[in-house]
Formats: sequence, structure tokens, C-alpha cells
Amino acid sequence: MTRASSTQSILPRTQIPRHVAVIMDGNGRWAKKRFLPRVMGHKRGLDVLENMCRVCSQAGVEYLTVFAFSTENWRRPADEVSFLMGLFLSALQKKVIKMHENGLRLKVIGNRSRFAPEIQQGILQAEELTQNNQGLTLTIAADYGGRWDILQAANALIAEGKTHISEDDLTQKLMLPDAPEPDLFIRTGGETRISNFMLWQMAYAELYFTDVLWPDFNDEEIHRAFTSFTQRERRFGRTSEQLPIEQQRP
Ligand code: IPE
Ligand code: IPE
Ligand code: MG
Repeated sequence: MTRASSTQSILPRTQIPRHVAVIMDGNGRWAKKRFLPRVMGHKRGLDVLENMCRVCSQAGVEYLTVFAFSTENWRRPADEVSFLMGLFLSALQKKVIKMHENGLRLKVIGNRSRFAPEIQQGILQAEELTQNNQGLTLTIAADYGGRWDILQAANALIAEGKTHISEDDLTQKLMLPDAPEPDLFIRTGGETRISNFMLWQMAYAELYFTDVLWPDFNDEEIHRAFTSFTQRERRFGRTSEQLPIEQQRP
């Protein structure tokens, strides 16, 4: 029995997070530890993401949202940025077919206007190809920042002439308006910060931080994160005594 199926069998379906958000951190350090160039960590990180998709699909997760490139990552050395762009493009060209065959739906969130035209084109094609699939929705956050997301949503509402807005108005204009808010947030690589990821949407996510570097985040580590999630009591402001009947979103 693989670890993936053990994740499925040990955890009742009701305890599987519907939406998992991940900061895939630690690629550079993983490579450095092996005396490899940092970019080899990114290459390996892509394989680990494929595996994460497989495990999440099998476990019944509906949405997996991963931070691949932040608005701040443009500050990295030009050769690393260029490698990451190349990897993104080749993944869009080569991996998407397999994802489509596996029934995954791909979405990309972020300010895509700064990407090269062939990447923008690749994103559109991948989204279009997979849009009617019923399996896991994999969302790649690329040139994404939580503050940018909130600002673009607010500006969209201003453009509509709104002078007073509600939480619902804003939520509808954020990236990923149709996904439930993340239930479980995972950050690998040992840092305990959010680094401008989905700031609004993560208000009630359960946070899981691990020292394991992203390229080492295997089935066993995924299982550990999911098990930790099942041990949390999600109160959404209520008391323990009001649970479990009220154990649902506010
Ligand atoms: C995360 O790994 C991937 C991206 C930010 C693109 P890092 O490249 O940040 O790896 P570390 O944190 O330097 O080890
Ligand atoms: C966060 O990782 C963004 C991604 C994983 C894409 P970073 O490695 O860029 O975050 P900081 O700089 O350590 O906060
Ligand atoms: Mg990092």
C-alpha cells in the first residue's frame, strides 16, 4: 500500500481539507546542501509538486493552491528568474497534457502581464484545455502577492463606481472567487511567515509549518501535515462546547 492510499484510508473523507494552500519553500537550500546550483532545487520541486497533486487527488482534496513565484521574487538574480520562467513554460507545454489526462483543472493567479507572451499564451491554453475537468483544481500563484490581490479587487470595485463595499463584494473580485477559503496552509522550508501569500483568504486557515525542504516533501510528509489538520479544533470564534454541530464556516 502506498502512502497516498494510506492518507486516504486512515483519514475519513470529512477530515480531508477541501482546499490546501502551500508555500513550496526550500528549493535553493536543498540544492546547496548537495553542492548543486540552486535551480536544480526548483527542477526537483516541480516533480514534488506533481506528486503532491497525485496524493491530493487520491485523498479527495478539491483545491490545491501553490505559491510558485511571488511579486517579490523578481528581485532574485536574473539567471535564477530566467530559469524559473523557462521551467514554468516547459511545465505548461509538457506537463499539462498529463494533468489533463488525469482530470485536473489548472488555473493561474497573479499579474500575468509581466510574463513573456509565450508564457501568457501557454497559461491561456492550459486553462482552456482543462477548464471542464472535474478533478483537483490546481492553482499556481505566479507573480502573485496577497496585497496585490486585495488592491486589484478594490480597484475593480472602484471602477464599477462602488463607494461602499462589503466582504462579499471584495471576495468576489479576488483571484479564485469560486474556491472555498484554504482550510490548511502548509509552508515547507522552516520559515514561519506568510510572505504575502493569500492574505485575505487565509483568515481562518489552519497553519502548518515544517522544516522539511520542499524537494523532500514526500508522501509521508504530506500525510503528517494532513494528520495534524485533523487534530485541530476549528472554532471560528465559537467555544468548544458549541462544537461539533457548529463546526462549519461562519
Ligand atoms: C522556493 O524555494 C521557490 C521559489 C521561491 C521560487 P527558494 O528558492 O526560496 O528556496 P530557499 O528558501 O532559498 O531555500
Ligand atoms: C515565498 O518564498 C514564495 C514562494 C515560495 C514562491 P520566498 O523564499 O520567496 O519567501 P521569503 O523571501 O523567504 O519570505
Ligand atoms: Mg525561500
